[in-house]
Amino acid sequence: MNAANPQSTMMTGAPDWVRHERLKAWVQKIAALTQPDRIEWCDGSSEEYDRLCEGLVQAGTLRRLNPAKRPNSYLAWSDPDDVARVEDRTFICSEQREDAGPTNNWAPPAQMRETLDGLFEGCMRGRTLYVILFSMGPLGSPIAHIGVELTDSPYVVANMRIMTRMGRKVYDVLGADGDFVPCVHSVGKPLQPGEADVPWPCNETKYIVHYPETREIWSFGSGYGGNALLGKKCFALRIASNMGREEGWLAEHMLILGVTSPQGKKMHVAAAFPSACGKTNFAMMIPPASLPGWKVTTIGDDIAWIKPGLDGRLRAINPEAGYFGVAPGTNERTNYNCMASLRGNVLFTNVALTDDGDVWWEGMGPAPAHCIDWQGKDWTPDCGRKAAHPNARFTVAAEQNPAIDPEWDNPEGVAIDAFIVGGRRADTVPLVTEARNWVEGVYMAATLGSQTTAAAVGAQGVVRRDPFAMLPFCGYNMSDYFAHWLALGERLQAAGATLPRFFAVNWFQTDDDGHFIWPGFGENMRVLKWMLERIEGAAGGSESLLGTTPRYEDIAWDGLDFSRDAFARITAIDEEAWRKELALHAELFDRLARGLPPSLRDHRADLAERLG
Ligand code: OXD
Ligand code: MN
Repeated sequence: MNAANPQSTMMTGAPDWVRHERLKAWVQKIAALTQPDRIEWCDGSSEEYDRLCEGLVQAGTLRRLNPAKRPNSYLAWSDPDDVARVEDRTFICSEQREDAGPTNNWAPPAQMRETLDGLFEGCMRGRTLYVILFSMGPLGSPIAHIGVELTDSPYVVANMRIMTRMGRKVYDVLGADGDFVPCVHSVGKPLQPGEADVPWPCNETKYIVHYPETREIWSFGSGYGGNALLGKKCFALRIASNMGREEGWLAEHMLILGVTSPQGKKMHVAAAFPSACGKTNFAMMIPPASLPGWKVTTIGDDIAWIKPGLDGRLRAINPEAGYFGVAPGTNERTNYNCMASLRGNVLFTNVALTDDGDVWWEGMGPAPAHCIDWQGKDWTPDCGRKAAHPNARFTVAAEQNPAIDPEWDNPEGVAIDAFIVGGRRADTVPLVTEARNWVEGVYMAATLGSQTTAAAVGAQGVVRRDPFAMLPFCGYNMSDYFAHWLALGERLQAAGATLPRFFAVNWFQTDDDGHFIWPGFGENMRVLKWMLERIEGAAGGSESLLGTTPRYEDIAWDGLDFSRDAFARITAIDEEAWRKELALHAELFDRLARGLPPSLRDHRADLAERLG
């Protein structure tokens, strides 16, 4: 026993509050494979968090920030080759290749198990294996599910404590025989006896592997974000999308927000945007003062689990308990609530360290005359390098958000009134279009395209199709996923339930000089207001090729000088551009031909015919 930590055990079993024999046996099995020096069963307490952070400071992984500037906060700098999700190293290992579909990397599970057995054998030598029991979703919620991550990274434990409900309180929910999704993670850098550790251990070889049939996750070689915090993309999206398909619910890459009108009517919206398209900003939006009485509150900023309630309405929870958000570009003007959330108790990764012990990133405010960049190098404004990595992140508890929705932790979730989908498109896609029916909405989401960003390794700025913003996150065949959405809608409709409406948005059209035309941020409230009034039957619109769009007079312009011409430009449908766009939809559908629901193909053909 380690005197500093009464919870630690030397391969000898679990503390007495762990009553789950199957869990204990599995931990022993993984320990036998990975051969850590010790096992620590995490209780999720603040003492444990403080002790781990202190250890990480000693190890050089974290720097404690100036408590006068940023209390109880730390900064980590990763290995320069471990800075984002590695989509090309992410695998869906279903028994049949077609069940992973053409948009996922696939390998036969037996072959992958052999490869991973080889990599994981002895991979935790010289390290501690941490057992993290976590709940995705409010404790005991009928929409929530439990996972266990075994990791040799104390940085991961600290992040998971912020990002999930974790530790002893979850053991009470799990009981002696509850179900859990097993997640195994290693940074893949065993230490020889006496070998000194590096501040950010990782391995050049990386594998992020999902076995959908057995609902397992194995991650090797990376300590960063979605590669390593396995509750997030791996469980809450890739594995959960499989669970949802089997069980009749949805696991979506969607923020959830509440919006309350001046009359006190509240609605809930779930919105899918590809990575780094302003999701956090939208989820924490502050409506402009010129639209008095409107209020936006945050339920989730990234992921929604959505299940039909007894009344047939779709009810959503945020499975996460924290935000792992992109820091660059965030400031008090673009996202005041986010900056207010970050005043203390934050883990920052890959932002710059200022001379007074605080953090800085591009777009936060005036650049300091000097700082230390995310690679530990001296930085000055004229040095030609970025101070923060473009995918630099903050990890912070949702509860710190001043705009947190009072229902955010409600185990019953909130009833969804509308789905919004939107990408980053410089042209072609209008500001907002309402789908005329469920199939049209699914079509809009299925054909979503967006310019790529720094959230994933790879080329940036090219338009890629990102159906439902789920391209890197759908844990099974994308065509089957579309079919699941369509079937769910049909079933609920047949049962007489009120379905959410669908809207497609694009905040990102640019003018001839490359400047954004739409002001975005809080002004998006004007579009949201139109949507809610549509749902209530109170707002007008006109029919276009794609659905229903607002006319200039359907939007509230109080306090915003936005011309009729500019509005016409961002709501127009350029027929030539749409002929090209529909050709790209056809390309996507050809790629997804196996199992593609005929109604989507028909809808495309119908649009093409109307265009002539
Ligand atoms: C994220 C992402 O980190 O979508 O949320 O990449
Ligand atoms: Mn995301």
